[in-house]
Amino acid sequence: MPNCIAVLNARQILTLSGPPRPRIGLEMRELAIVEDGVMLIRAGRIESISRRSEIQIPSDADIIDAESRIVLPGFVDAHTHPVFAGTRADEYEQRTEGATYAQIAAAGGGIRSTVRRTRQSGEIDLLESASRYAEWFLRGGTTAIEAKSGYGLSLEAELKILRVIRDLAAQRRLRYVPTFLGAHEIPDEYRGRIDDYIALVIHEMLPRVVAEGLAEYCDVFCEPNVFPPDQARLVLQAARDLGLGLRLHADQFTPDAGAHLAAELGAATADHLEATTLDGLKALQAAHVQPVLLPASVYNLGSTHYPAARQMISLGLPVVLATDFNPGSSPTASMPMALSLACTHMKMTPAEAICAATINAAYSLRRGDRIGSLEPGKFADFVIHDCFDYRELPYFFGREPARAVYIGGVCVYPQ
Ligand code: NIG
Ligand code: FE
Repeated sequence: MPNCIAVLNARQILTLSGPPRPRIGLEMRELAIVEDGVMLIRAGRIESISRRSEIQIPSDADIIDAESRIVLPGFVDAHTHPVFAGTRADEYEQRTEGATYAQIAAAGGGIRSTVRRTRQSGEIDLLESASRYAEWFLRGGTTAIEAKSGYGLSLEAELKILRVIRDLAAQRRLRYVPTFLGAHEIPDEYRGRIDDYIALVIHEMLPRVVAEGLAEYCDVFCEPNVFPPDQARLVLQAARDLGLGLRLHADQFTPDAGAHLAAELGAATADHLEATTLDGLKALQAAHVQPVLLPASVYNLGSTHYPAARQMISLGLPVVLATDFNPGSSPTASMPMALSLACTHMKMTPAEAICAATINAAYSLRRGDRIGSLEPGKFADFVIHDCFDYRELPYFFGREPARAVYIGGVCVYPQ
């Protein structure tokens, strides 16, 4: 019998235990907290969680002392773009001087400037930079991320990025869910020829990605001046026919077409939704599409147009929070930062934000049965945060509160 690990002296264990599905409405405020809790772990999985007074600690157990801090599931960051070369600190400076994200993109910068650099980069360099970012995710208490390609935009460069994601997963520092985002932007050599680029994505990229087993999901940046809904639909339908799940960058700047497309196709998620109206939200609700909200990109673009989280929760949508980590709109890997923005600017309660960043995010990635909550049988992916009450997580903002991060019962941070 493998050795038992006992996590002791947790002021609060936020178990998030509950029905085996994403949480909606008032359920999002129910964190199923065990005060003065003990968690027993065996063979990388949770065996039990109980109050200290109600349990006998096995005499051979290895002890992890939570020192009166809080313990919660590792954050599941359901929308990231972590494999890219270089930074866009130069464009960031230009934006401080008045240029907009859209102006920079129209002038050939933005996503396309990262694509040029990423194409020139070898797998080893990309693996090195993404491994560095993996440490940032861990420091924020994140244990699993959805990772998109999308800075290659040619067959070979997209495969290169997805192979890097596969190699990152093999390092076992973080859990990864790979997403193919070949339709992230129209690359320089296809400007004005969107249909030709769509054909490349559908007929060459998607079949190879699927044949090599490099992605679980397909995403498209759906926006009238990037991939309008009619073009986005073709890519997503082809992906669905090949067995991939669907996610969608929807309505970041322009209302509703993206939300309606996600609903029509029964996508797992519609992400961003800053511009979506009540009509689009109702379509998502009727089609059981999960909204993934990315407040750090709103913040970093200097906007105040945050998505309507309160309206979504009232409609019964199982909201997810993610960082959107990428070199342009959202260069942060910090889920605690996303939580702070969600509470301050979108008026989510701390409990709702934590639910959106853990169990709801796990369900959006078809992993709600394994991660996202601390329940017997699930992976022991948990974090001891330097807080004495869970509400301190978003309240003390601008710090990374994780003291120790465990994946499958193994300490991955600090190492
Ligand atoms: O989710 N909007 C499209 N994609 C990213 C931005 C990528 C970039 O600027 O490099 C996003 O915000
Ligand atoms: Fe994104």
